[in-house]
Amino acid sequence: MALRSATLNVMMKAARQAGVRLKRDYGEVDQLQVSRKGPADFVTAADTRTEKILKNELQRARPDFGFLMEEAGHAVGKDGARRWIIDPIDGTSNFVHGIAHFAMSIALEDQGEIVAGLVFDPINELMFVAEKGQGAYLNERRLRVSSRLRMADSLFATGIPFLGRGEAPDHERFLKEMGAIMAVSAGIRRFGSASLDLAYVAAGRFEGFWETGLQPWDIAAGILLVREAGGLVTEIDGGAKMLQSGSIVAANPAVHGPLREAILRARG
Ligand code: IPD
Ligand code: CA
Repeated sequence: MALRSATLNVMMKAARQAGVRLKRDYGEVDQLQVSRKGPADFVTAADTRTEKILKNELQRARPDFGFLMEEAGHAVGKDGARRWIIDPIDGTSNFVHGIAHFAMSIALEDQGEIVAGLVFDPINELMFVAEKGQGAYLNERRLRVSSRLRMADSLFATGIPFLGRGEAPDHERFLKEMGAIMAVSAGIRRFGSASLDLAYVAAGRFEGFWETGLQPWDIAAGILLVREAGGLVTEIDGGAKMLQSGSIVAANPAVHGPLREAILRARG
């Protein structure tokens, strides 16, 4: 990639370092699958450990920045404007079940705006990065969203609500949305990691992605990846407060409108 800022270098270094350990942890989870106790406690430990490595590395390089993290929550920094938004393992259920599809997600927010984002899948060594105004990259290769124009040719990713996530009306609403998109698209995937779903939209693998009930650390980095790859990202009702509402639709510019409208029509 062209010129990479010092800050992005710091993010990549932290992710690589945490990735070495996380990869080892994943290998152990795979072994634990067969034990009766299961890997749940071990995974919580891996989550916390990964977050700590990321926090230590980032803090060492940028001591004044604040943090918003999935495990440890909020930490205000001396620099009131900038904070890191971190998900140490996005795709925890996959990790627990020995499915190699998860990532760490790091975003840098400056005065409420995401200015740098990184999504790193350590197993497949996929490093997705973006900086505001500088484009999005996968392992040094510039990314563009897909150029498919028709819903009928489009592959979409989503997240399916599950036990403990969303009440019954939420589940019914989602089934209607999925029914509507099934009827007009080339297919729907539920891979289980929102940050990677967004990274895949940026890479043109999926034409679009929608989900509700997400947390800022699931999507902060991915939003910038999609935008810097030429895609559009809004809430499902068209607003711009994805980090606050957890509602998101991200897609290439041709199908973003049709996807959003189909979801809204399905909701009635
Ligand atoms: C989850 C993943 C999943 C999405 C869930 C998230 P976690 O994050 O991003 O794809 O559908 O809503 O909670 O729990 O694996 O970090
Ligand atoms: Ca997550």
